Amino acid sequence: MCIRWFHLGLLAYFMCFAYADEFHSRFLLPRSVKSTKTNSAEQTTEYWMTKAQSILADKLEESSRLNTNRAKNIILFLGDGMSVHTITSTRAMLGDVSEKISFQEFPYTGLSKTYAIDKGVPDSASTATAYLSGVKGNYGTIGVTAEVPKYDCELSADESKHTESIAKWAQDAGKWAGLVTTATVTHASPAGVYAHTSQRAWENDAEIINDGCSADVNVDIARQLVEWPVGKGLRVIMGGGRRNFIDASDVDEEGIDGKRTDGRNLTAEWLTDKLKQGASAEYVWNKEGLWNVDLNETEYLLGLFSSKHCPYHGELEREGLSDSVPSLSEMTEAAIELLSKSEQGYFLFVEGAKIDMGHHSNRAHLALEETAEFARAVELARELTNEEDTLIVVTADHSHTMTMNGYPSRDADVFGLAPVLADDGLPYTILSYANGPGYSKTFSKKTGRRDLSDADFTDPKYKYMATVPLKSETHGGDDVGVFASGPYAHYFTGNYEQTNIPALMAFAANIGPFANVAVTLQEEDCKSEDENLL
Ligand SMILES: *[C@@H]1O[C@H](CO)[C@@H](O)[C@H](O)[C@H]1NC(C)=O
Ligand SMILES: *[C@@H]1O[C@H](CO)[C@@H](O)[C@H](O)[C@H]1NC(C)=O
Ligand SMILES: [Zn+2]
Repeated sequence: MCIRWFHLGLLAYFMCFAYADEFHSRFLLPRSVKSTKTNSAEQTTEYWMTKAQSILADKLEESSRLNTNRAKNIILFLGDGMSVHTITSTRAMLGDVSEKISFQEFPYTGLSKTYAIDKGVPDSASTATAYLSGVKGNYGTIGVTAEVPKYDCELSADESKHTESIAKWAQDAGKWAGLVTTATVTHASPAGVYAHTSQRAWENDAEIINDGCSADVNVDIARQLVEWPVGKGLRVIMGGGRRNFIDASDVDEEGIDGKRTDGRNLTAEWLTDKLKQGASAEYVWNKEGLWNVDLNETEYLLGLFSSKHCPYHGELEREGLSDSVPSLSEMTEAAIELLSKSEQGYFLFVEGAKIDMGHHSNRAHLALEETAEFARAVELARELTNEEDTLIVVTADHSHTMTMNGYPSRDADVFGLAPVLADDGLPYTILSYANGPGYSKTFSKKTGRRDLSDADFTDPKYKYMATVPLKSETHGGDDVGVFASGPYAHYFTGNYEQTNIPALMAFAANIGPFANVAVTLQEEDCKSEDENLL
């Protein structure tokens, strides 16, 4: 794929040059006229009617055999910050706006409301509590109710304020559970699987002390992963963040300093704990190590592939890292292979974490490459599992402020300029943000709006236009998509609270607080239907 990006990039490069000349005139040639991608069939009524007939046939087929099997396995794919606009723009990047990406083929789609209790635009911590525990919390907090304000040392440690995640419900039902992320494994989203804290930044003990709390009263997220029951029970943990597991006086496998101040090596403690139980466990820190693991014979796997967050997917190839760091798809494949050994099934959380990070820096190109890789991981999961017994849900925690705009032609390079100049006689990009560090690429103090005619859009790190200056672009408040396939996927339609997601997944698998309650309700529904028939 990266080779293809390169070609796309070159194409964009040449197109920009071709464009630059034309920018001297006020109006540009409408490129759609010359479009090579236009499908002539699309110009007929018949094409659209036939397409609609086939969608209707699919709908009739789906509604005639709703999948009401119990979900043995649940996989939740979380595209961090993957707004609907991000998905649409990724589709445009991949070729044509009419082409779908894997999970958009899922039969059932809904919209989830992402707000936190105290904020209309949420973060990844409060939303993780919502889509994993079914409870809404405050901005910055994870796995605790909204009674706990951010930074509250005392309430953070109060177990009566802790929520339960679907990973616990799965484990209590005898299923295996695991997580895969491209962020640190202690970052806000994956921490929602196993941790409880009033401050998402408490990934290691030093952070707790910096915030004026006690690292004895408050247990940092890395320690919770290794010591507390849900984290301890996880069969698969893969992502980045080795630094949070070792002391500041030590270095990791790549010579990077640790972050802890308690002198512990939590990686070693994790391994010792498993081996003491007589379990087969492996710790790996690079791709070669992962390939050497016999997944059929391994019961617990910890893979920490980076000191901090994992690199961007596009950078694996561009920076020669693809031999040392596994991609999201590769981690997902290994996780499913290991977890598939569980007779009672499993719950797997997979996060494409860096979609969000690309957007925060206004680097739309990186964000969209991440989204494409995320879609690939979903596709792979669907190939490796069976929709008769595996519920796959794909969603986002929150949106971002990027839009795709400016009436580009269908085959335009989405990373380039809109086809017509703005009212100030200057070009503007198809992708742009409401705020963020791209502001300085957009405006100059002296001359006002900058002329982007010669901007290098082939640079994947290019920071796109932003209206308001901010070091880090903010999230957006709009609802995000939920795409479902497998048992009870049809329950995921509608526009609902994000907290509905774990409830529906738990219902489908008949686990946790939504197990028997929901079944009773359903039986009553059937009874009343039967009575109606009589
Ligand atoms: C921590 O423990 C792991 C697993 O035993 C080991 O591979 C690693 O080298 C240790 N790191 C340090 C800094 O001691
Ligand atoms: C692992 O088990 C599966 C299913 O039993 C089998 O098809 C596969 O060949 C095994 N792989 C290895 C490396 O032993
Ligand atoms: Zn974010």
